[in-house]
Amino acid sequence: MVDLEILLQRPTVTCPRWMPETAWVEHGPFAFWLIERLRPRTVVELGVHRGYSLCAFAEAMERRGVAGRVIGVDTWVGDEHAGFYGEEVLRDLSAHVRPLYGDRVELKRMYFSEALAEIADGSIDLLHIDGRHHYEDVVADFTSWLPKLSPRAVVLFHDTQVRERDFGVWRLWGEIAATRPSFEFLHGHGLGVLAQGPEAPVAALAGLLDGDLDAAAVARVRGHWAGLGAAVGAIAAREAKRARRRAKLRRLPGKAMRRISAFVAGLFGVGGWTAPVAEPRRPAAWRQAELS
Ligand SMILES: C[S@@+](CC[C@H](N)C(=O)[O-])C[C@H]1O[C@@H](n2cnc3c(N)ncnc32)[C@H](O)[C@@H]1O
Repeated sequence: MVDLEILLQRPTVTCPRWMPETAWVEHGPFAFWLIERLRPRTVVELGVHRGYSLCAFAEAMERRGVAGRVIGVDTWVGDEHAGFYGEEVLRDLSAHVRPLYGDRVELKRMYFSEALAEIADGSIDLLHIDGRHHYEDVVADFTSWLPKLSPRAVVLFHDTQVRERDFGVWRLWGEIAATRPSFEFLHGHGLGVLAQGPEAPVAALAGLLDGDLDAAAVARVRGHWAGLGAAVGAIAAREAKRARRRAKLRRLPGKAMRRISAFVAGLFGVGGWTAPVAEPRRPAAWRQAELS
Protein backbone atom coordinates (compact mmCIF):
# COMPACT_ATOMS: atom_id res chain seq x y z
CA MET A 1 0.00 0.00 0.00
CA VAL A 2 1.30 3.44 -0.92
CA ASP A 3 2.30 5.58 2.07
CA LEU A 4 3.61 8.89 0.75
CA GLU A 5 4.51 10.09 4.22
CA ILE A 6 7.06 7.26 4.48
CA LEU A 7 8.20 7.61 0.86
CA LEU A 8 8.89 11.31 1.41
CA GLN A 9 10.69 10.89 4.73
CA ARG A 10 13.91 12.75 5.43
CA PRO A 11 16.46 10.41 6.99
CA THR A 12 18.22 12.17 9.88
CA VAL A 13 21.55 10.89 8.57
CA THR A 14 22.02 11.17 4.84
CA CYS A 15 25.64 10.35 4.09
CA PRO A 16 28.44 8.23 5.53
CA ARG A 17 31.37 9.79 7.35
CA TRP A 18 33.64 8.48 4.57
CA MET A 19 32.87 10.74 1.62
CA PRO A 20 35.23 10.02 -1.27
CA GLU A 21 34.49 11.34 -4.76
CA THR A 22 31.97 9.13 -6.55
CA ALA A 23 29.16 9.12 -9.10
CA TRP A 24 27.01 7.41 -6.43
CA VAL A 25 27.06 10.38 -4.06
CA GLU A 26 23.45 11.49 -4.64
CA HIS A 27 22.03 8.12 -3.57
CA GLY A 28 23.41 8.36 -0.02
CA PRO A 29 20.11 9.52 1.53
CA PHE A 30 18.12 6.76 -0.18
CA ALA A 31 20.66 4.14 0.97
CA PHE A 32 19.98 5.15 4.60
CA TRP A 33 16.22 4.95 4.06
CA LEU A 34 16.43 1.61 2.26
CA ILE A 35 18.59 -0.09 4.90
CA GLU A 36 16.35 1.13 7.68
CA ARG A 37 13.28 -0.30 5.97
CA LEU A 38 14.75 -3.55 4.59
CA ARG A 39 16.97 -4.41 7.57
CA PRO A 40 19.13 -6.77 5.45
CA ARG A 41 21.31 -9.39 7.15
CA THR A 42 23.81 -9.70 4.32
CA VAL A 43 24.63 -6.95 1.83
CA VAL A 44 26.97 -7.67 -1.08
CA GLU A 45 28.37 -4.97 -3.31
CA LEU A 46 29.91 -5.80 -6.69
CA GLY A 47 32.12 -2.79 -7.43
CA VAL A 48 33.39 -0.82 -4.43
CA HIS A 49 36.14 1.50 -5.75
CA ARG A 50 36.61 4.22 -3.10
CA GLY A 51 33.79 2.75 -1.01
CA TYR A 52 31.12 5.44 -0.78
CA SER A 53 28.07 3.23 -1.37
CA LEU A 54 29.55 0.39 0.70
CA CYS A 55 30.11 2.76 3.62
CA ALA A 56 26.62 4.25 3.20
CA PHE A 57 25.14 0.75 3.67
CA ALA A 58 27.45 -0.07 6.57
CA GLU A 59 26.87 3.23 8.32
CA ALA A 60 23.10 3.02 7.92
CA MET A 61 23.19 -0.45 9.50
CA GLU A 62 25.41 0.78 12.31
CA ARG A 63 23.24 3.78 13.10
CA ARG A 64 19.92 2.01 12.70
CA GLY A 65 20.92 -1.00 14.82
CA VAL A 66 20.67 -3.47 11.92
CA ALA A 67 22.76 -6.52 12.80
CA GLY A 68 24.29 -7.64 9.54
CA ARG A 69 27.39 -7.56 7.43
CA VAL A 70 28.47 -5.83 4.26
CA ILE A 71 30.78 -7.59 1.82
CA GLY A 72 32.45 -5.54 -0.89
CA VAL A 73 34.05 -7.23 -3.90
CA ASP A 74 36.47 -5.47 -6.23
CA THR A 75 39.82 -6.04 -7.87
CA TRP A 76 40.72 -2.46 -6.82
CA VAL A 77 42.39 -2.07 -10.16
CA GLY A 78 39.58 -0.22 -11.93
CA ASP A 79 37.96 -0.78 -15.30
CA GLU A 80 37.25 0.98 -18.60
CA HIS A 81 34.29 2.87 -17.16
CA ALA A 82 35.48 3.76 -13.64
CA GLY A 83 39.03 4.33 -14.89
CA PHE A 84 42.13 2.49 -13.72
CA TYR A 85 43.76 3.50 -10.44
CA GLY A 86 46.56 2.69 -8.01
CA GLU A 87 47.05 0.86 -4.72
CA GLU A 88 46.36 4.00 -2.69
CA VAL A 89 42.59 3.61 -3.27
CA LEU A 90 42.30 0.33 -1.36
CA ARG A 91 44.85 1.51 1.20
CA ASP A 92 42.82 4.66 2.01
CA LEU A 93 39.54 2.73 2.09
CA SER A 94 40.90 0.01 4.39
CA ALA A 95 42.30 2.64 6.73
CA HIS A 96 38.83 4.18 7.12
CA VAL A 97 36.67 1.07 7.09
CA ARG A 98 38.35 -0.79 9.96
CA PRO A 99 38.05 1.94 12.64
CA LEU A 100 34.58 3.04 11.48
CA TYR A 101 32.86 -0.31 10.99
CA GLY A 102 35.14 -3.01 12.45
CA ASP A 103 34.19 -6.55 11.43
CA ARG A 104 30.88 -5.52 9.92
CA VAL A 105 32.55 -4.79 6.60
CA GLU A 106 34.61 -7.30 4.67
CA LEU A 107 36.60 -6.28 1.60
CA LYS A 108 37.26 -9.11 -0.85
CA ARG A 109 39.94 -8.32 -3.40
CA MET A 110 39.06 -10.60 -6.30
CA TYR A 111 36.95 -10.86 -9.46
CA PHE A 112 33.19 -11.05 -8.94
CA SER A 113 33.24 -14.53 -10.51
CA GLU A 114 35.80 -15.70 -7.93
CA ALA A 115 33.79 -14.34 -5.00
CA LEU A 116 30.84 -16.56 -5.94
CA ALA A 117 32.61 -19.51 -4.31
CA GLU A 118 32.90 -17.62 -1.02
CA ILE A 119 29.26 -16.60 -0.54
CA ALA A 120 26.58 -19.11 0.48
CA ASP A 121 23.64 -19.74 -1.84
CA GLY A 122 20.41 -18.02 -0.81
CA SER A 123 22.16 -15.68 1.65
CA ILE A 124 22.14 -12.14 0.18
CA ASP A 125 19.29 -9.81 1.20
CA LEU A 126 20.62 -6.77 -0.67
CA LEU A 127 22.84 -7.00 -3.77
CA HIS A 128 24.28 -3.83 -5.30
CA ILE A 129 25.58 -4.26 -8.86
CA ASP A 130 28.04 -1.49 -9.76
CA GLY A 131 30.96 -3.06 -11.65
CA ARG A 132 31.84 -2.47 -15.28
CA HIS A 133 28.77 -1.29 -17.13
CA HIS A 134 28.64 -2.95 -20.55
CA TYR A 135 25.36 -4.78 -21.16
CA GLU A 136 27.16 -8.16 -21.16
CA ASP A 137 28.91 -7.33 -17.84
CA VAL A 138 25.72 -6.42 -16.03
CA VAL A 139 23.84 -9.42 -17.42
CA ALA A 140 26.68 -11.69 -16.25
CA ASP A 141 26.83 -10.05 -12.80
CA PHE A 142 23.06 -10.28 -12.35
CA THR A 143 22.53 -13.84 -13.59
CA SER A 144 25.60 -15.37 -11.95
CA TRP A 145 24.64 -13.93 -8.56
CA LEU A 146 20.95 -14.93 -8.71
CA PRO A 147 21.56 -18.25 -6.84
CA LYS A 148 23.17 -16.27 -4.02
CA LEU A 149 20.05 -14.19 -3.37
CA SER A 150 17.80 -14.92 -0.40
CA PRO A 151 14.00 -15.11 -0.84
CA ARG A 152 13.91 -11.55 0.64
CA ALA A 153 16.43 -10.17 -1.82
CA VAL A 154 16.36 -6.70 -3.33
CA VAL A 155 18.85 -5.83 -6.08
CA LEU A 156 20.18 -2.34 -6.85
CA PHE A 157 21.56 -1.39 -10.28
CA HIS A 158 23.54 1.81 -10.60
CA ASP A 159 23.83 3.86 -13.82
CA THR A 160 20.48 2.89 -15.35
CA GLN A 161 20.36 6.35 -16.99
CA VAL A 162 23.79 6.40 -18.62
CA ARG A 163 23.85 5.82 -22.38
CA GLU A 164 27.35 6.96 -23.23
CA ARG A 165 30.59 4.93 -23.55
CA ASP A 166 28.73 1.71 -24.34
CA PHE A 167 27.02 1.54 -20.93
CA GLY A 168 24.27 -1.08 -21.04
CA VAL A 169 22.62 -1.09 -17.59
CA TRP A 170 19.67 0.80 -19.10
CA ARG A 171 19.13 -2.07 -21.54
CA LEU A 172 19.07 -4.81 -18.91
CA TRP A 173 16.91 -2.62 -16.69
CA GLY A 174 14.45 -2.23 -19.57
CA GLU A 175 14.25 -6.01 -19.86
CA ILE A 176 13.78 -6.86 -16.18
CA ALA A 177 12.11 -3.89 -14.49
CA ALA A 178 8.60 -4.92 -15.50
CA THR A 179 9.10 -8.57 -14.51
CA ARG A 180 9.25 -7.84 -10.75
CA PRO A 181 8.19 -5.05 -8.40
CA SER A 182 10.61 -2.22 -9.13
CA PHE A 183 11.32 1.51 -9.14
CA GLU A 184 13.88 3.66 -10.92
CA PHE A 185 15.42 6.88 -9.67
CA LEU A 186 16.58 9.10 -12.52
CA HIS A 187 19.02 11.32 -10.62
CA GLY A 188 22.64 10.44 -9.81
CA HIS A 189 23.03 8.55 -13.13
CA GLY A 190 19.99 6.40 -12.35
CA LEU A 191 19.41 3.76 -9.70
CA GLY A 192 17.17 0.75 -10.30
CA VAL A 193 15.58 -0.99 -7.30
CA LEU A 194 14.28 -4.50 -8.01
CA ALA A 195 12.46 -6.84 -5.61
CA GLN A 196 13.96 -10.04 -6.97
CA GLY A 197 13.13 -12.40 -4.08
CA PRO A 198 9.58 -13.79 -3.93
CA GLU A 199 9.46 -12.76 -0.24
CA ALA A 200 11.14 -9.37 -0.62
CA PRO A 201 9.66 -7.09 2.06
CA VAL A 202 7.99 -4.77 -0.43
CA ALA A 203 5.38 -3.71 2.14
CA ALA A 204 8.19 -2.21 4.24
CA LEU A 205 9.03 0.00 1.26
CA ALA A 206 5.65 1.76 1.51
CA GLY A 207 4.50 1.09 -2.03
CA LEU A 208 7.70 2.24 -3.75
CA LEU A 209 7.94 -0.94 -5.82
CA ASP A 210 4.28 -1.90 -6.19
CA GLY A 211 3.59 0.07 -9.35
CA ASP A 212 0.59 1.76 -7.67
CA LEU A 213 2.10 5.25 -7.65
CA ASP A 214 0.44 7.56 -10.16
CA ALA A 215 2.60 9.79 -12.38
CA ALA A 216 2.37 12.75 -9.98
CA ALA A 217 3.42 10.62 -7.00
CA VAL A 218 6.32 9.10 -8.97
CA ALA A 219 7.49 12.62 -9.82
CA ARG A 220 7.19 13.73 -6.17
CA VAL A 221 9.11 10.72 -4.88
CA ARG A 222 11.82 11.14 -7.52
CA GLY A 223 12.02 14.88 -6.85
CA HIS A 224 12.25 14.36 -3.09
CA TRP A 225 15.19 11.92 -3.24
CA ALA A 226 16.89 13.87 -6.01
CA GLY A 227 16.69 17.00 -3.85
CA LEU A 228 18.21 15.27 -0.82
CA GLY A 229 20.83 13.74 -3.11
CA ALA A 230 21.73 17.12 -4.58
CA ALA A 231 22.26 18.52 -1.08
CA VAL A 232 24.67 15.69 -0.24
CA GLY A 233 26.34 16.13 -3.64
CA ALA A 234 26.96 19.80 -2.82
CA ILE A 235 28.55 18.89 0.53
CA ALA A 236 30.73 16.28 -1.16
CA ALA A 237 31.83 18.74 -3.88
CA ARG A 238 32.78 21.31 -1.21
CA GLU A 239 34.72 18.68 0.74
CA ALA A 240 36.51 17.50 -2.41
CA LYS A 241 37.47 21.09 -3.27
CA ARG A 242 38.84 21.62 0.25
CA ALA A 243 40.79 18.36 0.09
CA ARG A 244 42.29 19.33 -3.27
CA ARG A 245 43.26 22.75 -1.90
CA ARG A 246 44.87 21.16 1.18
CA ALA A 247 46.80 18.69 -1.01
CA LYS A 248 47.97 21.54 -3.25
CA LEU A 249 49.16 23.55 -0.24
CA ARG A 250 51.02 20.52 1.09
CA ARG A 251 52.83 20.27 -2.24
CA LEU A 252 53.88 23.90 -2.21
CA PRO A 253 57.62 24.00 -1.50
CA GLY A 254 58.74 25.80 1.61
CA LYS A 255 60.27 28.61 -0.44
CA ALA A 256 56.96 29.47 -2.10
CA MET A 257 55.20 29.29 1.27
CA ARG A 258 57.70 31.72 2.74
CA ARG A 259 57.20 34.13 -0.18
CA ILE A 260 53.42 34.05 0.10
CA SER A 261 53.64 34.35 3.84
CA ALA A 262 56.02 37.30 3.66
CA PHE A 263 53.67 38.98 1.17
CA VAL A 264 50.65 38.44 3.44
CA ALA A 265 52.67 39.57 6.45
CA GLY A 266 53.64 42.74 4.56
CA LEU A 267 50.01 43.44 3.69
CA PHE A 268 48.59 42.97 7.17
CA GLY A 269 51.63 43.68 9.31
CA VAL A 270 51.53 40.29 11.00
CA GLY A 271 54.24 37.74 11.54
CA GLY A 272 55.07 35.52 8.59
CA TRP A 273 55.13 31.76 8.28
CA THR A 274 58.17 29.98 9.62
CA ALA A 275 59.07 26.53 8.42
CA PRO A 276 58.68 24.08 11.30
CA VAL A 277 62.06 23.05 12.62
CA ALA A 278 62.35 19.29 12.53
CA GLU A 279 63.10 17.86 15.95
CA PRO A 280 66.32 15.87 15.93
CA ARG A 281 65.71 12.13 16.19
CA ARG A 282 66.13 11.02 19.77
CA PRO A 283 67.41 7.63 20.75
CA ALA A 284 64.67 5.17 21.76
CA ALA A 285 65.97 5.09 25.33
CA TRP A 286 65.28 8.83 25.72
CA ARG A 287 61.74 8.46 24.51
CA GLN A 288 61.21 5.62 26.94
CA ALA A 289 62.53 7.75 29.77
CA GLU A 290 60.19 10.61 28.84
CA LEU A 291 57.20 8.25 28.89
CA SER A 292 57.84 6.74 32.29
C1 LIG B 1 31.75 2.21 -10.70
S1 LIG B 1 33.02 1.60 -9.69
C2 LIG B 1 32.20 1.31 -8.15
C3 LIG B 1 31.71 2.59 -7.50
C4 LIG B 1 31.27 2.45 -6.06
N1 LIG B 1 30.12 1.62 -5.89
C5 LIG B 1 31.04 3.81 -5.41
O1 LIG B 1 30.24 3.93 -4.48
O2 LIG B 1 31.70 4.78 -5.81
C6 LIG B 1 33.29 0.01 -10.38
C7 LIG B 1 34.35 -0.86 -9.70
O3 LIG B 1 34.13 -2.21 -10.13
C8 LIG B 1 35.38 -2.89 -10.21
N2 LIG B 1 35.17 -4.01 -11.13
C9 LIG B 1 34.68 -3.97 -12.39
N3 LIG B 1 34.54 -5.20 -12.89
C10 LIG B 1 34.96 -6.07 -11.92
C11 LIG B 1 35.03 -7.50 -11.82
N4 LIG B 1 34.64 -8.30 -12.82
N5 LIG B 1 35.49 -8.05 -10.68
C12 LIG B 1 35.89 -7.24 -9.66
N6 LIG B 1 35.84 -5.89 -9.68
C13 LIG B 1 35.37 -5.31 -10.81
C14 LIG B 1 36.36 -1.84 -10.67
O4 LIG B 1 37.65 -2.15 -10.21
C15 LIG B 1 35.80 -0.55 -10.05
O5 LIG B 1 36.51 -0.21 -8.88
